Amino acid sequence: KVKLGVLASGRGSNLQAIMDNIDAGKLSAEVVVVISDKPGAFALERARKKGIPAFWFELASFPGKAEYEKAIVDTLVQHGVDLVVLAGYMKLVGEVLLQSFPNRIMNIHPALLPAFPGAHGQRDAVEYGVRYSGCTVHFVDAGMDTGPIILQAVVPVMQDDDEDTLAQRILQEEHKIYSQAIQLFADGKLKVEGRKVRISN
Ligand code: GAR
Repeated sequence: KVKLGVLASGRGSNLQAIMDNIDAGKLSAEVVVVISDKPGAFALERARKKGIPAFWFELASFPGKAEYEKAIVDTLVQHGVDLVVLAGYMKLVGEVLLQSFPNRIMNIHPALLPAFPGAHGQRDAVEYGVRYSGCTVHFVDAGMDTGPIILQAVVPVMQDDDEDTLAQRILQEEHKIYSQAIQLFADGKLKVEGRKVRISN
């Protein structure tokens, strides 16, 4: 079984959906460790409730990003992680993490990339006035939300949507496609070819 290391900064509903899908037999994987950059992240609680080891590391208590990420990488490696899953992890991934897990870090973003990258995908979509938005699962590269796209799901933007109502609609799709993307990885069906991901049958 593919061993997942989940990085989360907050609420952790994507982590929860992944754990629930595993329990329901819909996803053949195992969450072996959860790591946060915020000691108070509710994601840590969710992990501990399931008996999954959960740790936090604050960037501010390290000399720099490299040392901070080294601590994260050491923890991931100690737990035998195969795939790093960013689930609402709100920091740009640096060189140390990237080089330790090449094409083995996935992220979910609440917009149809390459539209609306960054920390406010849903708000930016509402403000722009697009009729459709959605979410994107992609492999992480050195850019901000720029890596090879694995799966996307589309949702309509309603006339009266605000950031929160749109975020809620998108989130329901996030909870489905993240597990689907992880299952594709687990089945060895994802091949990165240049900037694209090929999905085999
Ligand atoms: C999710 O909507 C995720 O797509 C987004 O943060 C939320 C985390 O929710 N991520 C980003 O905006 C990354 N740029 P969760 O903690 O409940 O999974």
